[in-house]
Amino acid sequence: MNRQTLLTTATAMVAKGKGILAMDESTGTCHKRFKKAGIEETIDQRQAYRDLLVTTPGLSSHISGAILYDETIRQNTLSGVPFAQFIEKQGILPGIKVDAGAKDLAGHPGEKVTEGLDGLRERFVEYKKMGARFAKWRAVITIGPGIPSHACIQANAHALARYAALAQEADLVPIVEPEVLIDGDHTLERCYEVTRATLRRVFSELAGQGVAFEGMILKASMVISGKSCPKQAGVEDVARETVRCLLNTVPPAVAGIAFLSGGQGTQQATAHLNAMNRMKLTLPWPLSFSYARALQQPTLEAWAGKKENVAQAQKLLLRRAKFNGAATLGLYREEMEKEAA
Ligand code: 13P
Repeated sequence: MNRQTLLTTATAMVAKGKGILAMDESTGTCHKRFKKAGIEETIDQRQAYRDLLVTTPGLSSHISGAILYDETIRQNTLSGVPFAQFIEKQGILPGIKVDAGAKDLAGHPGEKVTEGLDGLRERFVEYKKMGARFAKWRAVITIGPGIPSHACIQANAHALARYAALAQEADLVPIVEPEVLIDGDHTLERCYEVTRATLRRVFSELAGQGVAFEGMILKASMVISGKSCPKQAGVEDVARETVRCLLNTVPPAVAGIAFLSGGQGTQQATAHLNAMNRMKLTLPWPLSFSYARALQQPTLEAWAGKKENVAQAQKLLLRRAKFNGAATLGLYREEMEKEAA
């Protein structure tokens, strides 16, 4: 493990004014989103869409890294350059999703455990050769009646730690993503409790596996009301409780925290991040973003699978990247949404 390489990469990933573009949807998830937007679900359209994202002019002013899916890191851009190489040339760090997805947890109805540890050391060697500088593994924790169970939190935290140790062994910065899902009618308070329990277990397992905190990024979900909770917490409440939860659980040595958007609205995800960065607190880590839907949604809809829409779709991506970049500095204002794309 080369600590200096890990530290340098991790620091660049959460540079102020920038964040990470998550574009690592599995083929299944990508197709679900394509279908909804009326886009043909083919390999050519997937390549064309990912090409659109990474060739957006000016993207590197607000985007520090891009997480790719296995299919994409093996593909070329439409101009014939391998995706990872193209991205790196733009001044954006290429990353790779390495987990094999969340599967049903045996004996625990309604709960998932993320798989993908088998053969991971060898896959890291391969991804590194293809140009990856960092990696991502996502675990999901569901809130519901009587869940999450201790077994679910434990199994996911352990797998995250095993993954993170293997990533660092290969000198790739692990993004450790324990996502507490927004689905359900739970309150903000319940989300706080579950997120705190999850993060405590995750950091205990990471320590147990000898992971260097300064060479990793935490991809956290925000402490937020369940999507169908009748009482929705406001922006300031989400910001305050999220930061309080992180301060109670995340070691100060961690290089940075990049939030996922998790089904929040695009403007909402930006407003929450901004509110956290406006708080008059000195935090031990930069608070940034690693959004997929909150960055891509307007772009995907504007593109609709048609070449003639590429330029407008790219403008919309740049706009969300710019607003979220501003939110890492606490400089986003709602009025900015009125600016024409
Ligand atoms: P969302 O921002 O759409 O939640 O996606 C982030 C991500 O990478 C999920 O793993």
